[in-house]
Amino acid sequence: MINLSYRFIMKNVTVIIGTKWGDEGKGKIAAKESKDAKLVIRATGGNNAGHTVIYKGKSIALHLIPGGIVYPQTTCIIGPGVVVDPDVLISEINLLKKHGVPNIEKRLKISGRAHVIMPYHKDLDVLYEKLKENPVGTTKRGIGPCYSDKDNRIGIRMYDLLLPKDAIKKKIKEATKLHNQNFLTNGMQNCIVNSDKLALICNNWKSILKDYITDITPLISKSLEDNDKIVVEGAQAFRLDIDHGDYPMVTSSNPVTAGTLCGAALPPQSLNMVIGIDKAYNSRVGNGPFPTELEASIDENGNVFKNDKQLEGDIIRELGHEYGTTTQRPRRCGWMDAVILRTAKYTCGIDYLCINHLDTLGKIGLKLGYIKICTAYNYQGKVIDYYPDDIGVTGKMPIPIYETLNGGFEISSDCKSYDDLPELAKRFISIIEKTSNIKVRYVGIGPANDDLIEINTDSKL
Ligand code: GDP
Ligand code: IMO
Ligand code: MG
Repeated sequence: MINLSYRFIMKNVTVIIGTKWGDEGKGKIAAKESKDAKLVIRATGGNNAGHTVIYKGKSIALHLIPGGIVYPQTTCIIGPGVVVDPDVLISEINLLKKHGVPNIEKRLKISGRAHVIMPYHKDLDVLYEKLKENPVGTTKRGIGPCYSDKDNRIGIRMYDLLLPKDAIKKKIKEATKLHNQNFLTNGMQNCIVNSDKLALICNNWKSILKDYITDITPLISKSLEDNDKIVVEGAQAFRLDIDHGDYPMVTSSNPVTAGTLCGAALPPQSLNMVIGIDKAYNSRVGNGPFPTELEASIDENGNVFKNDKQLEGDIIRELGHEYGTTTQRPRRCGWMDAVILRTAKYTCGIDYLCINHLDTLGKIGLKLGYIKICTAYNYQGKVIDYYPDDIGVTGKMPIPIYETLNGGFEISSDCKSYDDLPELAKRFISIIEKTSNIKVRYVGIGPANDDLIEINTDSKL
């Protein structure tokens, strides 16, 4: 008989996952969940993410550092699965210090295994997009090229920044052999890498960041042993996952729950709770399928053009202030797609949902006179209740089947509980639950970390 008494039993990890195409309000929920957490970890992506948190009444956009940094008892980790642009990280540290967030030097840890986004990764991002007939519409932050180098085993890691100048120069030289040829043959001579200069830049990064770069595994092991609460702040979202999203219109990491645990160096058995985050309407920035997208005055380059007529997508964008936290690009907007949530439930193991921007949805309803929710699709002559996997192959977009609610609503400032919510809002929530087969536990009624109404208390939670 095998003795099982030493089995792994700690279940202290809460994972925050975006359920659509990003910008669902993950930063706000990660911050809220971090109130009583010991560790808060960013696990995937880099500064393609833009997470908004509120600190002392002021809004702060974070791209790399977990939102949980706003609570002084937390230790915040940039995990091994993240790709780090050191310049962005340094400005973010300075921004938090400027806002008076205490003890950043002690509370921020960067895994030495995280890969560095080098300036040439950003140039390559621009080049690859330019060469594509159907560009992805990336953030041009160098994310894809940095992950490709990691997979090719020519990446530069945060640990490498700690090396003597000559040693890092050698690594840069080796990593950029093919990249330089690409720059040369594509008319980007000015991007050819000067390894001497870049090694100097790395040395400068080292002087600022060296005390933050560390082996994070003992920290994580200790927290698992002590049964501390650990929050993993997912970035990007289910439909942007490289394996499970709308390939090739995706990012280059695995933002689903399993990828997030891997990027945070956490074992699957430590998982206690997965909170799926969505908005009461949906948005996407960049290219790719979006079944419930509404017409808007956005041109093929992603810019808003002047139009005397305000289209439905424009109304949602303006009421929701849907402009990218990272790139300021106008976001494409559409109705809530509850079918994707049903698919996300099983790929991401979602325990319950938080639906943000219920306040905005009420205003949209008041302005348009109706609210819609997608509850099924018509796809290739069949009614289906899941997000089809082969859109990229068939080239056919699933046609949303909507439930329509007439009117809109206002959420007053004294709305504190489910019972206080307008009837139409309650009806909206129950349609989401019925379609997705997931309980909605929180609804967001404003941007602040605590602008939430708890509407479901299940004994298992
Ligand atoms: P993330 O990338 O998922 O963290 O989301 P972003 O921060 O990019 O975008 C979410 C935006 O919605 C931010 O500007 C938040 O301040 C805002 N927000 C989040 N929840 C709510 C809500 O319930 N109501 C309103 N009005 N704004 C919200
Ligand atoms: P958060 O964490 C919204 C999108 C880009 C593009 C695609 C690939 O704030 O929700 P990339 O630069 O990653 O190679 O771009 O992915 N994208 C996001 N969209 N929110 C994000 O992060 C995103 N991160 C990447 O717009 O379509
Ligand atoms: Mg965002």
